[in-house]
Amino acid sequence: MSDKVSDKIPLAGVIGAPISHSQSPKLHGYWLNRYGIKGHYVPLHVEQSDLKDVLQTLPKMGFVGANVTIPHKETVLSLADIVTDRAALIGAANTLIFRPDGKLYADNTDGYGFVENLRSNANWDPKSGPAAVLGAGGAARAVIASLLEVGVPEIRLSNRTRTRSDVLRSEFGTKIVVCEWVNAADMLDGVATLINTTSLGMAGQPELKLSLDRLSSKAVVTDIVYTPLRTGLLKRAAEMGCQTVDGLGMLLHQAAPGFERWFGQRPDVDEATRNFILSA
Ligand code: ATR
Repeated sequence: MSDKVSDKIPLAGVIGAPISHSQSPKLHGYWLNRYGIKGHYVPLHVEQSDLKDVLQTLPKMGFVGANVTIPHKETVLSLADIVTDRAALIGAANTLIFRPDGKLYADNTDGYGFVENLRSNANWDPKSGPAAVLGAGGAARAVIASLLEVGVPEIRLSNRTRTRSDVLRSEFGTKIVVCEWVNAADMLDGVATLINTTSLGMAGQPELKLSLDRLSSKAVVTDIVYTPLRTGLLKRAAEMGCQTVDGLGMLLHQAAPGFERWFGQRPDVDEATRNFILSA
C-alpha cells in the first residue's frame, strides 16, 4: 500500500473476539460522517494467538490506531512500547495509537469516560462523600482508579467474591474499604455516589437485589450497564428521588479521546450522538 493512500485516509478499528456486538464502529462512523472526515473505522475480529502479528501489520496498512476490547484489553499492555500511567494502574488498555516513530502507545480511557458521564449528566460532586462500588471485575478497576483521581474521599467496595475486592484494596490503597457482599446494603449510609459495575441488571442477567433503604436521596446512582438503559437499580433509585445516570454515556465519552487522536477532531458527545447510537 502506498504511503500516499494511508496518509490521506486514516484508518482505525476495534480489535476483539467476538466483535460483532461492538457499538464502536457505529459510533466512530457517525462522527466521521458528521464532521466530514475522510477516514474509516472497522471491526477487527482478532484471536489471541494473532494479536501480536496484527498489531505489527495494522500500521503498515494505514491504521493510525485502534480500540481494544475483550479479550485483549489486558494482554495488549505487554505488547505496547508506551503504556500510560492510568492504563498501567488499571491493568488494561482500550485505546491504541500507532505512532509515526513505530512505537505502540496504549492508554485507558474507560475511567475518563465514566467520570465524564457523571459530570455531564448529573450535578455531581465526587468529593462530597464516600462512593460505593459494587463489583470487582475489569470495569470496577477503571471506575476505582478514576474515582480516586477525582478526589473521592472513600470507596466502599463490595463484590460477591471477596478475594477480588481484597486484591483491589491491596492495589489501590487505604481509601478502599471492603464490605461483605451479603452486607452491601449497610455500606450505603452517607454514600454520595453508588456505582454498579457488576453484570447484574443487564439484559438476560438477574436483577441486582440490593436494598436502597439506607441510601440518601441526594446520592447520584449510576450503572455501567446500558442494555437496558434504565436498569432496575436506576429505576428504584429514581423513584427515591436520586439523580440517576445510565451507562451509555460512558461508552460515548471513552471513545472521544481516541477519535480526536486518530482523526484530528474532538467529537461532541451530545444528544444527537446518543440518539444515533440508540437508533436501530
Ligand atoms: P467486567 O470486566 O465487565 O467487570 P468481570 O470481570 O466478569 O467483568 O466482572 C463481573 C462482575 O460482576 C464481578 O464483580 C462479578 O462478581 P464475581 O467477582 O463474584 O464473579 C459480578 N457478578 C456477575 N454475576 C454476578 C451475580 N450473579 N451475583 C453477584 N455478582 C455477580
